[in-house]
Amino acid sequence: MNKLSITLITLIALVTLPLAACQEREVPQVQPQASTPAVQTQPAPATGNAGGTEIAPQQAIARLAPTQGNETTGTVTFTRQADGVEVVAEIQGLPPGGRHGFHVHETGDCSAPDATSAGGHFNPQGTPHGAPDNPLDQRHAGDLGNIEAGPDGTAQYRRVDPGLQLDGPQSIVGKAVLVHANPDDFTSQPAGEAGARLACGVIEVEQGQ
Ligand code: CU
Ligand code: ZN
Repeated sequence: MNKLSITLITLIALVTLPLAACQEREVPQVQPQASTPAVQTQPAPATGNAGGTEIAPQQAIARLAPTQGNETTGTVTFTRQADGVEVVAEIQGLPPGGRHGFHVHETGDCSAPDATSAGGHFNPQGTPHGAPDNPLDQRHAGDLGNIEAGPDGTAQYRRVDPGLQLDGPQSIVGKAVLVHANPDDFTSQPAGEAGARLACGVIEVEQGQ
């Protein structure tokens, strides 16, 4: 071998040996990666609508505004639970001390001065009007009963309702919540003789939840 050949062989050895060593070191690194399952397999948190894919919301809210000549306002939240939807309402500006029919209505339109634009009770199953604790075939899905005003004109309400849904064909999202002037008698058809409408709000899924 001449001097050039030795130099070339030495160079090749210097270059390829570390390469081979590197490749050997890289092999074990593959295994921990391969044995680690994908981390992001948890169900995505429910949101309203992401990229056109409908994802079931966890919560919806209706902000009630008074109808013409009335002062009733309030907030009603609907939260998904294992056994139904939890309804929590905080209502203000009621006449002190009375009971007031409280329902989900079929049309999410509170634009009429008397809120008649919200239509009748939400009734996707075609059942008769009734009390909220009736069997589901003996009440409207929207029949939430009554709220009761204290001496200060506020009312609080909480109920986990087995007949309400936040997604699917019978979702209450996009419907309306109404407070009436009179009590719901749970018997009269089709709406319990609850009288005029004091406040109305559309049920919406808020952004970012
Ligand atoms: Cu009603
Ligand atoms: Zn009803």
